[in-house]
Amino acid sequence: MAETRRLDGKTFLVTGGAGFIGSNFIRYLLQSYPDCKIINLDKLTYAGNLENLEDIAGNPRYTFVQGDIRDGEVVSSLYEKSDIVVHFAAETHVDRSILEGGEFVLTDVHGTYILLETMRNHSIELFIHISTDEVYGSRKTGAFKEEDALNPSSPYSASKAGADRLVYAYWVTYGLPVIILRPTNNYGPYQYPEKFIPLFISNALEDKTLPLYGKGDNRRDWLFVEDHCRAIDCVLNKGNMGEVYNVGAQNEISNIVIANKIVELLGKPESLIKHVPDRLGHDFRYSVDCRKIHSLGWKPAMDFEEALRLTVTWYSEKKSWWKKIKDKSRDFKSFYEKYYRDRK
Ligand code: NAD
Ligand code: DAU
Repeated sequence: MAETRRLDGKTFLVTGGAGFIGSNFIRYLLQSYPDCKIINLDKLTYAGNLENLEDIAGNPRYTFVQGDIRDGEVVSSLYEKSDIVVHFAAETHVDRSILEGGEFVLTDVHGTYILLETMRNHSIELFIHISTDEVYGSRKTGAFKEEDALNPSSPYSASKAGADRLVYAYWVTYGLPVIILRPTNNYGPYQYPEKFIPLFISNALEDKTLPLYGKGDNRRDWLFVEDHCRAIDCVLNKGNMGEVYNVGAQNEISNIVIANKIVELLGKPESLIKHVPDRLGHDFRYSVDCRKIHSLGWKPAMDFEEALRLTVTWYSEKKSWWKKIKDKSRDFKSFYEKYYRDRK
């Protein structure tokens, strides 16, 4: 097993830190490493939200920079002040990539390229790339190992696969110090309410229908966001350079079962669940073999039922957070109008 790195006193550059996982991770880092500093580089796209970090905005160890990962000058100036990079920034919603994939290629592939290329002229100690389990594609049974071939099938996952392999190429070609994580579906506080779990919880709270794609038998492996943060921490400490680590929770559940659990937890009628036309090219199931990261000492800590209850409670208590997005963001409404109009 690799030795534990010294992380206290380091400056972390987090990209996409105003999004769901990035904001949870910044909070986690500040709590876990009392001497670390954090720079958050985020463009504040529709998915970036500074309210996700309101409680730590005044922390002297935290700095926010609004900017684009594709801006080499900004990236270079921030690399000057940073030791470690954790790269979350991306376009992330599969349905949006089906409507229009261009921004996914530009951000996820080209943005990652700019971060890597700029790194060649700086002495960054470690670059953690947050990829996704979707890069392997779907499989009916069994689980993907890190060395398996990639077979992505949406414009989102294909862009993420491009980024993933670019990161690897910069390790092989230039010896840049990189590690790649391939996590499964995250859920928890501060997830943008276009994604399955927060959309269904918030719709149910408003007595609106829950649009279940197809038969609802597609399956995902659900990873609580705090468990994911701990996995990143584990790899920051003990991961081997140039390696890929799958991160999953072995919580494989079909969408219809989750939809039923959500209405049950909220005391809402099952009739709110409405089957709608399926997502184009809808991947049936993702599954990853996580023995490699288990051997570094990480295992998920949260039980799914308990973490889902916690998540439902969080959205029930934070109505103002998601209502502002759903009611006031023009982007949120126009996306859904266009999405369902195109599929009628
Ligand atoms: P998110 O959509 O909630 O947040 C993405 C953030 O990136 C936003 O704050 C946005 O403003 C920022 N961003 C987008 N383009 C940018 C650019 N050009 N420059 C700077 N910032 C930019 O995403 P998330 O769900 O938190 O996902 C974070 C990362 O984890 C992504 O790389 C995603 O592919 C990966 N991932 C997510 C999940 C999941 O279930 N959410 C699972 C596996 C992997
Ligand atoms: O697997 C990791 C990936 O998980 C991440 O890389 C992506 O960034 C993230 O968005 C997520 O992708 P999915 O497509 O799996 O997540 P989403 O929340 O969009 O959908 C989860 C499942 O729920 C999927 O089978 C589609 C279904 N679904 C989704 C929505 C939004 C519905 O049935 N109805 C919906 O309205």
